[in-house]
Amino acid sequence: MGDRYAKELEWSIYNWYYGGDDAPPEAMFGALALGMRNGMKLLAPADMSAEQHFVPVYTGREELKKGAELPVVETELKTLAERVRSWEQCMGIVVNQWDKKLILSQNRLKQLLEYEPKSHITIIKGSVVDIHVGAIVNAANESLLGGGGVDGAIHRAAGNKLLEECRTLGGCKTGDAKITKAYDITWADHIIHTVGPVYSGNESDVELLGSCYRKSLDLAAENGCLSVAFPCISTGVYGYPIEKAAKIALLAVSMWMDAHPQTVIEAYLCCFRDVELEAYKELVKR
Ligand code: AR6
Repeated sequence: MGDRYAKELEWSIYNWYYGGDDAPPEAMFGALALGMRNGMKLLAPADMSAEQHFVPVYTGREELKKGAELPVVETELKTLAERVRSWEQCMGIVVNQWDKKLILSQNRLKQLLEYEPKSHITIIKGSVVDIHVGAIVNAANESLLGGGGVDGAIHRAAGNKLLEECRTLGGCKTGDAKITKAYDITWADHIIHTVGPVYSGNESDVELLGSCYRKSLDLAAENGCLSVAFPCISTGVYGYPIEKAAKIALLAVSMWMDAHPQTVIEAYLCCFRDVELEAYKELVKR
């Protein structure tokens, strides 16, 4: 179907299931609200009636084909939601009913129709390599030619073509970022390679680490990504204490969002290790 907003919605539902019990649902509602504002089309039954309990819709043919197929037409979600709102006996809409489904009640549809899409941060337990997003951020080194940690995992998943493209980039300075395609990582459009500082305890670490997040978001926005997944840059091999790094990451991303009110982006802060999730949880509870 090729609707980027529908793809984004499908991705956000996937990520919610991936995140498990603790995963917050806001990214999905953000994707729905953004889609509604931008004419997102989903597949809806050709034949709909006000008596249906829930109207099924699908983000694409693949989702439709997972169960009993019915005749469908491309329908703007906003128009459909407005129609369903006027059907008193209908309880709402179910997105992708055959697999990872999302149920939208009448009340939820009302909220979505009124909701102003905004940038948002989701803290999620898991690996950036598994998240479905516009851009996955890689914690690389200045050579951009691969390494251990998340860098190694991304290169293994994306395949040799990624290394070939990286060879053409001429490396990357600490605190800067460069973008490539995602190749065999078919569940993302791009990889953004950024180089965090090796932790030294100097003041410059703070600026350089913050810069990795800001530059990555600049590139994501310039390339039309609606979502981006960050690992905890510098906190593995490069030794940045996670409590300090989490604070810098959260501040840098939220300040970037405040400074770019016209850009709506979902930023996933991915916690591969339990200590990373604990550090973020500690920060947001205050
Ligand atoms: N899958 C997903 N996330 C991972 C994985 C993995 N296999 N391994 C680590 N992380 P790190 P850095 C998470 O060490 O500290 C490389 O050799 C980890 O939990 O990968 O920035 C590069 O080439 C943490 O959240 O990167 C550089 O030389 C995040 O990834 C150097 O390491 C970053 O940890 C960069 O060091």
